Amino acid sequence: MAAAWVTLLAAVLVAAATAAQRRAAGAERPVRIVLCKTTFRRTNFMYEPAWQTLVAGFAAYARARAPGALRLTADPRGCSALKNATRQLGEGDLFIWLGRLHHEQPPWVDLNKRGVHTVYYRTEPDEPCLSTVARTGAERHAPTPAETWEYTHANSAAGCTAWPAPRSRYVPPGAPADAGAGPRSARLLAGHPDVAVLDFVGATSGYAMRVACLSYLSATIPHGAFRLAHDLWNEATWRRALARMSAVVNLHKNCSDSAQPLEAFRVAKLLAYGCIVLSERSDARDEAAFAGMVTFASVDALPAMWARFAASSAAQRAAAGGAARTKFLAAFAPARLFHEAGVFGLLDELRRGRRRSSLWALLRRALPV
Ligand SMILES: *[C@@H]1O[C@H](CO)[C@@H](O)[C@H](O)[C@H]1NC(C)=O
Ligand SMILES: *[C@@H]1O[C@H](CO)[C@@H](O)[C@H](O)[C@H]1NC(C)=O
Repeated sequence: MAAAWVTLLAAVLVAAATAAQRRAAGAERPVRIVLCKTTFRRTNFMYEPAWQTLVAGFAAYARARAPGALRLTADPRGCSALKNATRQLGEGDLFIWLGRLHHEQPPWVDLNKRGVHTVYYRTEPDEPCLSTVARTGAERHAPTPAETWEYTHANSAAGCTAWPAPRSRYVPPGAPADAGAGPRSARLLAGHPDVAVLDFVGATSGYAMRVACLSYLSATIPHGAFRLAHDLWNEATWRRALARMSAVVNLHKNCSDSAQPLEAFRVAKLLAYGCIVLSERSDARDEAAFAGMVTFASVDALPAMWARFAASSAAQRAAAGGAARTKFLAAFAPARLFHEAGVFGLLDELRRGRRRSSLWALLRRALPV
């Protein structure tokens, strides 16, 4: 035991000396960033809104600071050769893995030991502490990132008392770069009439609670005014669906549980294209983030809420969707999300070598996890 402490202490001291040396030697240097996600096509498509937000956020940082401030490698095909993609990274660089699928593949432990600042972007409701309990045997390759980036406030690591707990930041999928060219906004501009139909987008089987909610809505919303779309697995089918939708209802898989995260990936796409979004109640902090953009109501109250929209004129509905869209594009601009989450500050620290010598970073390198 004593020997283990001596080894740990020695490792911390060596890392501290190296970091101090580099800091003394260097001014700001470009931060190399590798952004990766699964290459599995369907899931890859679903993760796209967050991918685009991260790429746009880094571009905004480089514009604000210096064109050469970052060297971003963000090629989903490149991630099939993860070892190659991450070999170039070293002390003070940044590695981000996006998404649940294959999140055990990155060499987390190795990256941490090399002083790379590691981030796991979570795409599903999750435990505050990741799976720190199960990091033995088959689970040995569970992620051990320095940070988690979250699409929902419900996933915050605030409730995590295990140590070392990753730091969490709220960096939800934001306004897409091509938001101006959406089919619905084009349709609005062309003055096409809007139809009073409520759509649902998502899996319609396999989740008992959601199926019950869908049956309730089908039974209470007038016949023909409620439609289901469950097979949107690529951009082309999404765009075709968006072109005919004007209002969409959002339901959790575990429907009627108001503590669930808001489905921000789906909602971001819908808002960007000017759809009215009604949602069942969600995590209170997520509701606050989308206030004035998404209309929240308990499942019982959704049909009455929809009836009010359906009774208003097509022009009023189009205006409501347009207003929510405008608000979303401003509030969820990637640069703004990065600022508010402190990512600009993190990148500044990495460029100046500060982050590398923080006690936290040094301990992380010395720990055997
Ligand atoms: C990794 O990189 C090396 C040299 O840069 C290359 O020869 C090799 O084919 C790459 N491996 C993969 C799986 O892409
Ligand atoms: C589903 O919701 C119920 C409450 O409605 C809750 O007790 C349960 O933990 C939830 N399940 C999951 C997996 O979140």
